[in-house]
Amino acid sequence: MIKVEKLHFSYTNIPFIENMSFDVNNGEIFGFLGPSGAGKSTLQKILTGVLTKYDGSVEVDEKEVRHAGPAFYERIGVDFEFPSLYEKLSARQNLRFFASLYPQSRDIDRLLESVGLLLESDKKVMYYSKGMKSRLNFIKALIHDPQVLFLDEPTSGLDPTNARIMKDLILAEKAKGKTIILTTHNMHDAAELCDRVAFIVDGRINALDTPRKLVMSKGASKITYTYLVDDKEVTKEALLKETEKDALLHKLISENAILSIHSSEPNLNDIFLEVTGRTLI
Ligand SMILES: Nc1ncnc2c1ncn2[C@@H]1O[C@H](COP(=O)(O)OP(=O)(O)OP(=O)(O)O)[C@@H](O)[C@H]1O
Ligand SMILES: [Mg+2]
Repeated sequence: MIKVEKLHFSYTNIPFIENMSFDVNNGEIFGFLGPSGAGKSTLQKILTGVLTKYDGSVEVDEKEVRHAGPAFYERIGVDFEFPSLYEKLSARQNLRFFASLYPQSRDIDRLLESVGLLLESDKKVMYYSKGMKSRLNFIKALIHDPQVLFLDEPTSGLDPTNARIMKDLILAEKAKGKTIILTTHNMHDAAELCDRVAFIVDGRINALDTPRKLVMSKGASKITYTYLVDDKEVTKEALLKETEKDALLHKLISENAILSIHSSEPNLNDIFLEVTGRTLI
């Protein structure tokens, strides 16, 4: 579906993206996970033909994106970081206008209802809150029922309820067979939504795999147990895969002297830090 090979790109005379290659499969949710300034939005802009002065090859449906024409823009839907809406028009008028640019469109009322905006659809967008604008911008990207969706930070700025609605809508698009490329710095969203995740820092991909494999390949699960020494609680940690070597643990179990025991798996944030040396925030 998407094939990026030996991509180079710079905003100035200093190279930013250097020799980046990856593929996105048909029907998958592919995530760019990285901290602020990593290059996530830059990549989205290259993949959607907004930034065309790149070297190397970026193909969507076997066509080079820098030569993309109207047919390409009918195939893709874009929900970028900053909503691009007409403030003086109502939500419904915005959607009607954007729908008129395409040969086909989805049902506007159903889209508005899906993000809880139907009752306020005749309000001018200038009176919308930030979260309402994000939701409207998202359904604007769906209006022509595109095959490929590019979503830049789709849950940022949303409260937990609306973030949940947004994630369910993204999963519903995937269930219809759509290919989705999203960016996030939220490891929970990446782990929940993405089939595969690319870790991005300073314009580079540091790792790329399923969230599960990224966690399993690098991180080690731990157990933490507590016991009493002279009436004082002591805490000790051990790697789950090395508990058979932990003589103290065996002794405490045999004496029934364990006060508490917990196991914990590393999360994507821990792995991101281990692989890139950077945190996600
Ligand atoms: N038009 C531009 N001209 C020059 N530099 C730019 C331009 N747009 C972005 N940059 C720089 O490119 C780098 C990557 O920016 P980008 O917006 O892709 O990051 P991001 O990963 O999307 O970050 P965030 O999570 O904050 O959205 C940053 O250092 C940024 O300052
Ligand atoms: Mg960004």
